[in-house]
Amino acid sequence: MAYLAIKNLSKSFQNNLVLDHINFEIEKGTFLSLLGPSGCGKTTTLRLIAGFEHQDEGTIHIGGNTIDTLPPYKRNIGLVFQSYALFPHMTVGQNIAYGLEQRNFTKGDIKKEVSKALEMVQLTGFENRKPRQLSGGQQQRVALARALVIKPSLLLLDESLSALDKKLRVDMQIELRQIQKEVGITTLFVTHDQEEAMTLSDQIAVMKNGKIVQMDTPQNIYKNPVNSFVASFIGQSNFLKGRIKENSQFVLQNGSTFSLPQQDYSLYNQEEYIISVRPEKIRVDQTRPSYPHIQGKVKFVTYIGNLSMYLIEALGHDIRIQQQNDSYRDQLKVNDEIYFSWNASDQSILTE
Ligand SMILES: Nc1ncnc2c1ncn2[C@@H]1O[C@H](COP(=O)(O)OP(=O)(O)O)[C@@H](O)[C@H]1O
Ligand SMILES: [Mg+2]
Repeated sequence: MAYLAIKNLSKSFQNNLVLDHINFEIEKGTFLSLLGPSGCGKTTTLRLIAGFEHQDEGTIHIGGNTIDTLPPYKRNIGLVFQSYALFPHMTVGQNIAYGLEQRNFTKGDIKKEVSKALEMVQLTGFENRKPRQLSGGQQQRVALARALVIKPSLLLLDESLSALDKKLRVDMQIELRQIQKEVGITTLFVTHDQEEAMTLSDQIAVMKNGKIVQMDTPQNIYKNPVNSFVASFIGQSNFLKGRIKENSQFVLQNGSTFSLPQQDYSLYNQEEYIISVRPEKIRVDQTRPSYPHIQGKVKFVTYIGNLSMYLIEALGHDIRIQQQNDSYRDQLKVNDEIYFSWNASDQSILTE
């Protein structure tokens, strides 16, 4: 069994099934993000693991032992929430020491551990400040130090960086990941922010309606999404819905037809498919190429410095294309006629 194993976990509130038999396992030291829209059951999953709620079905195992019957304080789990939840009347040092005092550490050991924890989150010298004398980022670092000082067997973070502004959040993401690797602590991170999940994680579990839809490395989820929900939740994608006819002709619902860059005879049937292609995987030509292509017209241009986003009218759809602004490539202009295509390896053929 893996270090953290969640088996068949279910939870309802007032007959409303909020977690629907979820299963996952991660090895020790893994950073796993639970990613999904608001209300999909992320916080509930953490609360069950922490022991603040009890599951209706299923089991939770850490290091080969089930923790299901233990009260929260005996589970030895470190928690950090979005609101820092520091004790306002205590100093930074006292906040961090709290968990150690509860566990009857000696005064000398507490002093040593608190000072190590402060150093880890780069707050040496802030020991005697009150939380209100710290910035949001500093308070969040204290919360992290307080969670880690007890040497928990698992670290749970619930939207912990969401309250910070963009630049600080990105700095904290890097810092959090460095600390997590240094300590080697198995971490479950809850977020609705796909970019944050991509930056931080060894593994991402994408959740929807109380279920895990896909769990894999960030790269694999981006490259091979299992359905259009995952493809649109992680990054951007173009979706074309229709049927595949002989000779790899793809017939859209509106009757428009184009040639797929792939001969796959197994897919010729009556089922509807969704072709998903990322905006940055589309290749543009301004003269008609000899290989299979789609013709379109530039409708809208967004310049983002190193990149440009183009909205293309083609096949009766709006197609998004993203290009690097290289010195050897001309920017497209509104009303330009273009021809575009993509490699077979860059398309996902999905069924839902
Ligand atoms: N204590 C509770 N009582 C009733 N409903 C709850 C309770 N906790 C969570 N829910 C419901 O369960 C669903 C999942 O909530 P939550 O796990 O907090 O989602 P997330 O963290 O993914 O946004 C939501 O519809 C929420 O309203
Ligand atoms: Mg939540």
